[in-house]
Amino acid sequence: MKKKKLKTKSFKLIGSFLVILLGIMMISRIKWTKENIDRIEYSNEAITIMKEKNIYDEITKKEYSKTVEKMLESGKFDSKYVDEYSKINLQEKENFEDSINTFLNKNYTPEEINNIFEYLNDTNQNKLKEMDHIDLKDYIKISNLEVDKIERYENYRIEKNTNIQDAVTKVNIGLDLEFYSEIETIKDPTSYTVLLNKYRGLPENYVPEDLTPLSINNNYKLRAKAAEAYEQLQSAALLDNVKFFPFSAYRTKEYQTELYTKYVARDGKNAADTYSARPRHSEHELGLAVDIRSDGLNDNLTEEHYKWMLNNAYKYGFIVRYAKGTTPITGYIEEPWHLRYLGIEVATDVHNKGITFDEYYDLYLKNNEK
Ligand code: DAL
Ligand code: ZN
Repeated sequence: MKKKKLKTKSFKLIGSFLVILLGIMMISRIKWTKENIDRIEYSNEAITIMKEKNIYDEITKKEYSKTVEKMLESGKFDSKYVDEYSKINLQEKENFEDSINTFLNKNYTPEEINNIFEYLNDTNQNKLKEMDHIDLKDYIKISNLEVDKIERYENYRIEKNTNIQDAVTKVNIGLDLEFYSEIETIKDPTSYTVLLNKYRGLPENYVPEDLTPLSINNNYKLRAKAAEAYEQLQSAALLDNVKFFPFSAYRTKEYQTELYTKYVARDGKNAADTYSARPRHSEHELGLAVDIRSDGLNDNLTEEHYKWMLNNAYKYGFIVRYAKGTTPITGYIEEPWHLRYLGIEVATDVHNKGITFDEYYDLYLKNNEK
């Protein structure tokens, strides 16, 4: 009786052992098969080149990599980067093979290269190819990054004791340099959302083509869409009992020159620069800015009207361009009276984000226009 029990027990034990063994065999078989499939995934062309270069065993030992295959097929495969290629994600990009070789030659790691392709736009990628290796770690995910300015960002960040995002935007605007230094001539002055400031000026001969007189006074003109929006703004304000008038709209280059020269003679250049744009730098020359005054005032809005404007102008496509607290960025004193037309969509977004148009342009528009 006892013997029989022992026998059953041993059978059970052997049985379980066999089941486990079978299991292990099956698992390793699946693994073995997968490895085989992985190897077979390489195209015949890639396999031929592997064999020519004597790297067939080395490569097929590793997991299949689309990037390795692409490098082999393109004839750009550099044997010293076998490991690196296998860690780089394949991109459907023109010159991808040359680009990764360039970055590898500059000692970027596969991880850095994956990040470069994931986060940097083409302009930045191309700039990076011309530069020595730089540490992108803290900057890579900043959407308005310009890789050639990283040293300036760092200097600004330390000097102003600010964060990376703030340093990037401010330096991109130009604020680590004197006003009116390194001036860029804007390429598309006809855009309704073009940025004009102390670092960006109009081409010498630009004159807007669709200037339209405002109904209240023929002497004041704005570009067609801005003029139409102005009429709507004025009517809407009237319904709220807010009555204002334009006192300056489109200005020719000659007129802006005359004004600026007059102010410099009166107050000196430094003072004039705080309230008047130099010629080719005024939004009035775009035909997209209008100065307004409240009834009874010469060149300003009452507190009440200013508040109304801050809360409502965007609904018609305008922003108060030089609002309170923006002087360090715009370089101008607070100008409650100066409205800039941007169109409803952008004006609303600028208003909601509560930032200057200079910052907004750098963060959200510059990659779409010049
Ligand atoms: N007063 C503003 C800044 C201009 O001259 O355009
Ligand atoms: Zn103005």
